[in-house]
Amino acid sequence: MSIDARSKDEALARDRSNPTGHRMTSDQGIPIENTDNSLRVGARGPTLLEDFHFREKIMRFDHERIPERVVHARGSGAHGYFQPYESLADLTKANLFQDPSKKTPVFVRFSTVAGSRGSMDTARDVRGFAVKFYTEEGNWDLVGNNIPVFFIQDAIKFPDIIHAAKPEPHHEMPQAASAHDSFWDFISLMPESAHMLMWVMSDRALPRSYRMMEGFGVHTFRLINDKGVSRFVKFHWKPKLGVHSLVWDECQKLGGKDPDYHRRDLWENIEKGNFPEYELGLQIIEEKDVAKLGIEILDSTKIIPEELVPVRRVGKLVLDRNPTNFFAETEQVAFCTANVVPGIDFTDDPLLQGRNFSYLDTQLSRLGGPNFVEIPINRPLAPVHNNQQDGFKRHTILEGRANYFPNSLGGGCPFMSSAAEGGYRHFPEKVDGEKLRARGESFQDHFTQAGMFYRSMSKPEQEHIIAAILFELGKVERKEVRARVVEQILAKIDEELVTQVAEGLGLPVPKPAVEKGKIDKSPALSIEYMKKDA
Ligand code: HEM
Repeated sequence: MSIDARSKDEALARDRSNPTGHRMTSDQGIPIENTDNSLRVGARGPTLLEDFHFREKIMRFDHERIPERVVHARGSGAHGYFQPYESLADLTKANLFQDPSKKTPVFVRFSTVAGSRGSMDTARDVRGFAVKFYTEEGNWDLVGNNIPVFFIQDAIKFPDIIHAAKPEPHHEMPQAASAHDSFWDFISLMPESAHMLMWVMSDRALPRSYRMMEGFGVHTFRLINDKGVSRFVKFHWKPKLGVHSLVWDECQKLGGKDPDYHRRDLWENIEKGNFPEYELGLQIIEEKDVAKLGIEILDSTKIIPEELVPVRRVGKLVLDRNPTNFFAETEQVAFCTANVVPGIDFTDDPLLQGRNFSYLDTQLSRLGGPNFVEIPINRPLAPVHNNQQDGFKRHTILEGRANYFPNSLGGGCPFMSSAAEGGYRHFPEKVDGEKLRARGESFQDHFTQAGMFYRSMSKPEQEHIIAAILFELGKVERKEVRARVVEQILAKIDEELVTQVAEGLGLPVPKPAVEKGKIDKSPALSIEYMKKDA
């Protein structure tokens, strides 16, 4: 089969329906005579139960809502395509990366994380950057954020961080994720969140536009070529317009004046032909070099600095078409980190492993059962054949008698493909160890990169971080929570940072938790160290 940039648009065309100029019918196709008056006995009498048009119209309205996403509920989507600059056959056998003339259709959804579906776009928050590639070998979802690290190392903590960041359960306040006791309480007790905290308090959490924001796959993944060679990879999206942020005062005013600020910006620019463009960047790490890095590549609270492993720009993503219908496309799209194609594989990052379960699981209830893959926006362009059947909202009419394997009756889906024929084969990684609920030593350094991030900022950017912490932490009622954030988290990140925050909050300035200058000299992150060993 051959796919080009327009293939998904053409496939969706079969499902579009335009009521303009047509006579009104019921869901059964029966022409409707009058939709202004219910069927009544006389001009002032009761409504009749037999009024099927009334019942159908009200019933459909009553059931219009589906559950919003448990996180990333507010989002905006766009169609487009991805095109590689050159063949990446040396790195991966994934079909979409082989031919620079090939355009693979994509659907992208940008989102905030903590707010509900109707919340304001300009809240201080992480932004989702989820891309669905409709490739010839099936759908690949790169479900990323605009911040390269995450709050936690292990997916088992995800319900905890989200419960802490969402409005508190007794009165469902406040809507702002990082301006209340439970968020900071959790942060103060979870040192591994220190690095992400710095990013969330920085201007990165206030993007000026979805068009001006980076994206990151966050986890380390694997790329595998046709010889079976695996390399580690971090995925990046680099916006062609550069990275730009709002300032907090603008965010608050815009939030009141135009809560749809980012959604409108994306929609209007695509309508005007100012198509948002991003370059896909890869940080490739050879298996043999992992130890030299001195950074735990399975720890999603860490970056691999671009100075250590440069980002190679390998292709472009262009968003050139708005969705036809928000609900059908942007709301019903279902991304999942477990959707990978041959040539791309997972690592043992415990956050990624948990995500691979969570998305499919939540979508079973959000989208009403296992057949949500048949919803047009989710349907692969690659042919789908298997022996799955039935379930709520099944659309496909499976032909034949035998729907099991093996069978001797004929029909069903008998063929498997070897890896050489394109069959997905997981990388045969060797694993060995005891079953434990524990994290190794390499997951224990929570503050080095947090400090590096703060110190890499310009003076105004540092001032913004301090102002953000004073604003958000200043809303916390419990004095002991404020004090714990200062003493147990900020004091271990940077001396100047903690001094300014403590003074701003009227708290005693704690002694620096780490000897001055020591953090900077960490061999793990020194560029000199890498150069020496290269
Ligand atoms: C939704 C990113 C961690 C569970 C999303 C979305 C993005 C995203 C972009 C929105 C997808 C859309 O637009 O529909 C990330 C990133 C993470 C992360 C980058 C860390 C690196 C986790 C973890 C879990 C999780 C650890 C659970 C163990 C979910 C769920 C949804 C979601 C349940 C809602 C999906 C839906 O209803 O369709 N995430 N997430 N995420 N995420 Fe994550």
